[in-house]
Amino acid sequence: MVVYAAQMPYASRAMNPTTNIAVRAARQAASILMRSFNRIETLTIAEKQANDYVSEVDRAAEQAIIETIRRSYPHHAILAEESGTHDGNEYQWIIDPLDGTTNYLHGFPQFSISIAMRHRGQLESAVVYDPLRDEMFTASRGNGALLNDRRLRVSEHKSLQGALIGTGIPFRDQTYLDAYLGMMKAMVKDTAGIRRPGSAALDLAYVAAGRTDGFWELGLSTWDLAAGVLLVREAGGMVSDIRGGDRHLESGNVIAGNLRVHREMLATLKPHVPEGMRY
Ligand code: IPD
Ligand code: CA
Ligand code: CA
Repeated sequence: MVVYAAQMPYASRAMNPTTNIAVRAARQAASILMRSFNRIETLTIAEKQANDYVSEVDRAAEQAIIETIRRSYPHHAILAEESGTHDGNEYQWIIDPLDGTTNYLHGFPQFSISIAMRHRGQLESAVVYDPLRDEMFTASRGNGALLNDRRLRVSEHKSLQGALIGTGIPFRDQTYLDAYLGMMKAMVKDTAGIRRPGSAALDLAYVAAGRTDGFWELGLSTWDLAAGVLLVREAGGMVSDIRGGDRHLESGNVIAGNLRVHREMLATLKPHVPEGMRY
């Protein structure tokens, strides 16, 4: 039977093949995460460094994602949080199998799976999946962003005043804790409220969905950011590093929001950016 584009579910029409594979991989990982979420006390947990934990579940979920990707794209390269880099061609998948491990290990219901694909440095596909709410955020470059079948758009909030802003509080490397607290103080004064949900990938997805008006965090890793960055951009938002440039995937310092909120956040945070922090 021929299925015409107009009859297809919206998601299948807008999604490119790599995004479809990322969705499949995220669902595989989700079933592993969900199976263990009710028996967290039985998991084997290791401390990678101070306040940085990994469980057998992170590793198993990552393995499942990599296997799913490699089945369709055996020659693509991979950068994954737990197993590092896997060589391949100029296509690279960036994977965080469980974003929000601290939440997960405490039974705090806010975590996600983040998968992005970039080609020669350009982000092409993104998936952030929240298995607890069954919310699948997807984006393909040039095709917009979706939450399940619904098209996403950043908020239309016009200024920081009255804005709801997401953030992440530094808990591992505290080199810039004082600078961060200065930023937090400035943002608390200017906004309606600050939220620290605990999964940076979902924090960015929420900016894309207009649930928050902006987000900032320091010291993230490429796998925390890659998928969320494409989601925000494809939903019409702006993402930059802490100085307004485009090196956030390198520095891990990020500001995201709708265009106006992003501009105001940049100006509000600027006086608190320490000299040693380049971007
Ligand atoms: C963490 C989460 C958290 C952020 C941390 C990340 P992980 O990722 O995204 O929100 O504040 O900096 O490392 O370690 O749970 O994958
Ligand atoms: Ca992460
Ligand atoms: Ca992780």
